[in-house]
Amino acid sequence: MSKMIDADQIRFRYDPEVDNWAVDGASLKVEKGEFVAVLGANGCGKSTLAKHLNAILLPEAGTVLVEEMDTKDEEQLFQIRQTVGMVFQNPDNQIVATVVEEDVAFALENLGVPSDQIRQRIDQAMKMAGIYQHRNKAPHKLSGGQKQRVAIAGVIAMRPDCLVLDEATAMLDPRGREVVMDTIRTLNREYGITVVAITHYMEEAAQADRVVVMNGGKVVLEGTPAQVFSQADLLREYHLDVPQATELRDELVKLGYDLPQGIISIEECAQAIYKLFQ
Ligand SMILES: Nc1ncnc2c1ncn2[C@@H]1O[C@H](COP(=O)(O)OP(=O)(O)O)[C@@H](O)[C@H]1O
Ligand SMILES: [Mg+2]
Repeated sequence: MSKMIDADQIRFRYDPEVDNWAVDGASLKVEKGEFVAVLGANGCGKSTLAKHLNAILLPEAGTVLVEEMDTKDEEQLFQIRQTVGMVFQNPDNQIVATVVEEDVAFALENLGVPSDQIRQRIDQAMKMAGIYQHRNKAPHKLSGGQKQRVAIAGVIAMRPDCLVLDEATAMLDPRGREVVMDTIRTLNREYGITVVAITHYMEEAAQADRVVVMNGGKVVLEGTPAQVFSQADLLREYHLDVPQATELRDELVKLGYDLPQGIISIEECAQAIYKLFQ
């Protein structure tokens, strides 16, 4: 089975005259159906890497394959953009229409999809993103989390195999973050959409199948959330934290309590503490 994404040793700089690489030999392999979180301090190259995944940017060195299509192959550009959908940080920049369902339909109309198919596809996309009940509202009257789900629905209506989310929850309040994360998880688990989610929130990364850590334009660490977050000292060197549950576990261990490694969720932490008192 071919990989969803196979980015191999890619290098990119914004100024071809200056030896300052935004991405400096990073590789990212993503299996179909996987949910991968990408972590890294500001400026380490996450967004630049993400923009390589649907040919917004092309690597100066290395290759990016999307379902075996090379992003440098102009003839495949349309298919690549259909395969990998991008969701960005600010929902206001991604919403163009004055009614939710028109916004979700916008890209499809531009693609010349027949109108009966548009109706069916946008209804399905709005249901999948959990905003169907808001379909006749004005987007600017919605909360940040709802707006971001409108943006996600617009991308889903294109029927991508893979969603790349670049800090899609960064501008949302905690409740908005939670519903958007629930939506993303549902799209991944129930609809089999591959997810690559760049995030600043360790709790979100903890929900992924795999976590990739970037630093200085390179991938410096990857593994399951439990593997990655068990290396708190190393993560701190990359200016990253661990989930709060992991931090509490590490602090308790320092105080001499015996708690297992690999605790990343509140439930696991609560269970482990409960066991101490049994
Ligand atoms: N459009 C741009 N023009 C020039 N430099 C850029 C541009 N976008 C990002 N950079 C630089 O590239 C590096 C990586 O940025 P970016 O990929 O946005 O990192 P991240 O998303 O991890 O914060 C940074 O040094 C940043 O200043
Ligand atoms: Mg960024």
